[in-house]
Amino acid sequence: MSKKVFIKTFGCQMNVYDSDKMVDVLRAAEGYERTDDVEQADLVLFNTCSVREKAQEKVFSDLGRVKHLKERGVLIGVGGCVASQEGEAIVQRAPYVDLVFGPQTLHRLPQMIEQQRLQRRAQVDIRFPEIEKFDHLPPARVEGATAFVSIMEGCSKYCSYCVVPYTRGEEVSRPLEDVLVEVAGLAEQGVREVTLLGQNVNAWRAPMSREQSDGELADFALLLEYVSDIPGIERIRYTTSHPNEFTPRLIAAYERLPKLVSHLHLPVQHGSDRILMAMKRGYTAMEYRSIVKRLRAVRPDMAISSDFIVGFPGETDEDAEQLIRLIEDVGFDNSFSFIFSPRPGTPAANLSDDTPHAVKLARLQRVQQTIDANMRRISDAMVGQTHRILVEGPARRAGVALPLKASGLSELMGRTECNRAVNFLGTSRLVGQLLDVRITESFSHSLRGEVQVEPASAAVSTI
Ligand code: SAM
Ligand code: SF4
Ligand code: F3S
Repeated sequence: MSKKVFIKTFGCQMNVYDSDKMVDVLRAAEGYERTDDVEQADLVLFNTCSVREKAQEKVFSDLGRVKHLKERGVLIGVGGCVASQEGEAIVQRAPYVDLVFGPQTLHRLPQMIEQQRLQRRAQVDIRFPEIEKFDHLPPARVEGATAFVSIMEGCSKYCSYCVVPYTRGEEVSRPLEDVLVEVAGLAEQGVREVTLLGQNVNAWRAPMSREQSDGELADFALLLEYVSDIPGIERIRYTTSHPNEFTPRLIAAYERLPKLVSHLHLPVQHGSDRILMAMKRGYTAMEYRSIVKRLRAVRPDMAISSDFIVGFPGETDEDAEQLIRLIEDVGFDNSFSFIFSPRPGTPAANLSDDTPHAVKLARLQRVQQTIDANMRRISDAMVGQTHRILVEGPARRAGVALPLKASGLSELMGRTECNRAVNFLGTSRLVGQLLDVRITESFSHSLRGEVQVEPASAAVSTI
């Protein structure tokens, strides 16, 4: 029987991607399969996040909960950003941990397990060995029509509040050919939609070829063009991009490349220039508005989502008002908002902060209510319109997938370009296809639709 690995993932999509890669390397080297049941596991891994204090503390309480599994020889490992920041200190605080590895050393997991077995003591490896990781990853096993592809690692922006440059290292771009080969491989396995991943994907730069490393550099706009030329790829998303390198070439890409979705996650963080400057974001609210305006000039239907931090040290009521105004003016769609969390080792952690927590909480609630109202308005306006969705699989009710009937109609779910789930009745052969649906109803977290025209390859007489 194959060995089993249980992975609990915290944090961003980079961590979700990395967790899949951990399974890939462990499967290739040691025949591990993933399990959702921690009691079945031979190896338990926590892929951690340290972006806010709460996320970090959660890891230690979760570790305590699996400690008893050690009695039957289970190995316990901690990876990700907390591991990267804390290193040895994790083993000191939780001596039953066997493996501590960072986001850039996850490909070494099989060797670390081997060493742990030989030496019978904890193994810690949290180095940043450049982009070596990608050269040691086996090809991904694909499930479904969507996939993530990491195009760069790390971040060199050093926003004053953020741990990421310290936990993931400086920005390093993956070579152009490697990204294209990976996307083409995914397309051959039936992937229709790729999401290009990185902390600031629009900072991606790489030589045009491995042989000519000192020649002309390709930029992110060119990478999008090449990905768009790959047969089988119908939709391209990316996350996250940064307002600073949102170049005219990138805006022009939206004019030329219909496969680029009309949905963009472009974190602004705040609407007050004073706060943006203290955050070291490198742009003003006006510059951000200008990007949005130019994007909507070429894509009038562009949905934009964002990240916001409220309660940054020194934030006044007027600053908070400016943020609300920006959210209303841009009409931000489904977005993330957080209360500032001081992170050890970052400059903002040393700023004096006299705003009471209750005031911060009230500001957060107002931000969230404003975003919710925007979302509702956008969803309601979609009723009666036709939208193209990528059918992901059976619809879910209360988190459980509804049965998929091999013949006849099932409740299916697909996603619009702006990432809304649309439930509709259709035949199972539509899974993995793009098709047009007319939106008939809108709810707070989903839409309902009716199939308009079926794709030729899935043509059936009734639906
Ligand atoms: N690189 C992306 C960017 O700059 O927009 C996202 C990076 S971070 C992994 C995701 C989000 O976490 C940030 O956009 C920010 O809103 C939030 N965040 C980062 N550090 C934080 C902190 N110290 N306190 C609260 N929120 C934080
Ligand atoms: Fe953190 Fe700023 Fe880098 Fe985003 S751009 S990961 S917020 S330092
Ligand atoms: Fe968290 Fe690391 Fe991502 S700190 S948000 S897992 S880059």
